[in-house]
Amino acid sequence: MKCAAVFGSPRNGNSDALAEEFLLEAERRGAVVERFCLRTMKFRGCIGCMACKDGRADACILDDELTPVLEAIAAADTVLLATPVYFRDISWLLKACLDRWYGFFGYTEGECNMRISAGKRMVFVVTQNMPREHLNDMMRKYNTTFMQLGFEKMYPVRGCEVGDAPDAVMNREELLTLTRETAAVVMAGGPSPAVLPAYHFG
Ligand SMILES: Cc1cc2nc3c(=O)[nH]c(=O)nc-3n(C[C@H](O)[C@H](O)[C@H](O)COP(=O)(O)O)c2cc1C
Repeated sequence: MKCAAVFGSPRNGNSDALAEEFLLEAERRGAVVERFCLRTMKFRGCIGCMACKDGRADACILDDELTPVLEAIAAADTVLLATPVYFRDISWLLKACLDRWYGFFGYTEGECNMRISAGKRMVFVVTQNMPREHLNDMMRKYNTTFMQLGFEKMYPVRGCEVGDAPDAVMNREELLTLTRETAAVVMAGGPSPAVLPAYHFG
């Protein structure tokens, strides 16, 4: 497994810790991981210049510290995105990164074509203070986005009712165990759990 892992929290906290738990187990089982920590990087969000769509470029034209991250995602068979929930959504850092993925879509004679290979796996690590039954809408929304980008299997790793302390998940042994078990399933190419139905997909 070749994995590009993107840490999207503005702090070294719970989503980082769960992501690391997953990655260390995956590495123990033979995964090769490249880690990218967005809060330490200088990059811009998408500026809507459309260079990736109008023939000027076949990838995002912005050239900054996110460029190697986008290249690593394109080359990986597995992508891990880690984020806290901020106001019912992913962090601003991860959203700015995700918007740059617009360059992964191209148009040929009016038809949308993908510039990254289909069939990648997505490990979506999300920590939140709300209980698990909340924010399924957010998970569903991003599952749809990942499907549109050609991802085949989605593995959510959710830390719910985590609390505000940055190291709160370290006291949640059941969560850490579940995270390591998910890494084992992903490494074995096992099935992804039933995902919520996509919005208007097809
Ligand atoms: C600005 C801000 C907004 C937040 N919004 C939500 C929210 O809408 N729902 C929720 O469950 N938790 C919310 N939280 C709590 C965080 O999602 C939670 O503490 C998370 O585990 C932090 O992850 P981190 O330690 O990796 O940064 C918010 C926290 C902050 C700082």
